[in-house]
Amino acid sequence: MNTPPRYQDLGLVNTKEMFQQAMQGGYAIPAYNFNNMEQLQAIVNGCTESHSPVILQVSGSARKYADKVFLPQMVKGAVDMVRASGSQIPIALHLDHGDSFELAKDCIDSGFSSVMIDGSHHSFDENVHLTAEVVEYAHAQGVTVEGELGVLAGVEDEVSSEVSHYTKPEEVEEFVERTGVDSLAISIGTSHGARKFKLEPGEDPPPLRFDILEEIEKRLPGFPIVLHGASSVSPKHVELINRYGGRLESAVGIPAEQLRRAAKSAVCKINIDSDGRLAMTAKIREIFGENPAEFDPRKYLGPARDELLKMIVQKNRYVLGSADKV
Ligand code: G3H
Ligand code: 13P
Ligand code: ZN
Repeated sequence: MNTPPRYQDLGLVNTKEMFQQAMQGGYAIPAYNFNNMEQLQAIVNGCTESHSPVILQVSGSARKYADKVFLPQMVKGAVDMVRASGSQIPIALHLDHGDSFELAKDCIDSGFSSVMIDGSHHSFDENVHLTAEVVEYAHAQGVTVEGELGVLAGVEDEVSSEVSHYTKPEEVEEFVERTGVDSLAISIGTSHGARKFKLEPGEDPPPLRFDILEEIEKRLPGFPIVLHGASSVSPKHVELINRYGGRLESAVGIPAEQLRRAAKSAVCKINIDSDGRLAMTAKIREIFGENPAEFDPRKYLGPARDELLKMIVQKNRYVLGSADKV
């Protein structure tokens, strides 16, 4: 058997330089989740077209789905395709919501350039210990690490929570100092999934807690902050899904203006998964609704890939501000 690849062999970079540039430039790096070829192609081609750096993000379950040996090779194929087009956009491969040292290590040993260790469901001290252990191993290989303080509501892969707990600003300095993490995910009112708020008809989503973010920025000047659960949940995609037989009720996300404001601050990485799922599902449902006889996967996965690419270009240009930064 061949030795597993290092991230440098796959043409990837860690997130250090990306975050420095994003901090200086007042924009955020997009972190798009994927688990198959169509999503991966849409992400890298969308970021190539919009001249944006990108973080390719994989949860533990997505890695299982795609296969841990297959996945880095698929990413290498995507990087090679991008380079063949003449583009030099920086590309990182990141583990999303890693929940153990063993998983983080396995990812680092198989070509990931960045990992998240999510100890946010543990006590502060346990979170510090777990995160510091991952940082020590990762930094020895040049891999960057994201930690998390505060709990988001919704599903976070193997761990899920009904309620959110905002990040306590008074804990962030000690956490960063004791762990040595490169970036910190915080909880300021976002949540995972397509139903982020329970709203009455006509009611607006509550604003994010920018007061907490500002307090964290004061305590950690120039330190990269990460926003999870940042899908906007496009009403157009929800409407298409429901029109063509789906049943997505009360789907609501984070308004784009709130994300624009966050991207201009110390928030250097914005995580988007649900919006990509919705874009592809809407297109596939539309195609099956309009043409129930279709059974060639290229005829529905191809347009779904195009829809996702379009969404990515829009997000980079008009929400994250990462377009034309390469
Ligand atoms: O934050 C969680 C991501 O959206 C990944 O979800 O575990 O279903 O791949 P997943
Ligand atoms: P969304 O569910 O809002 O897309 O959040 C994704 C995420 O935070 C992945 O870690
Ligand atoms: Zn997340």
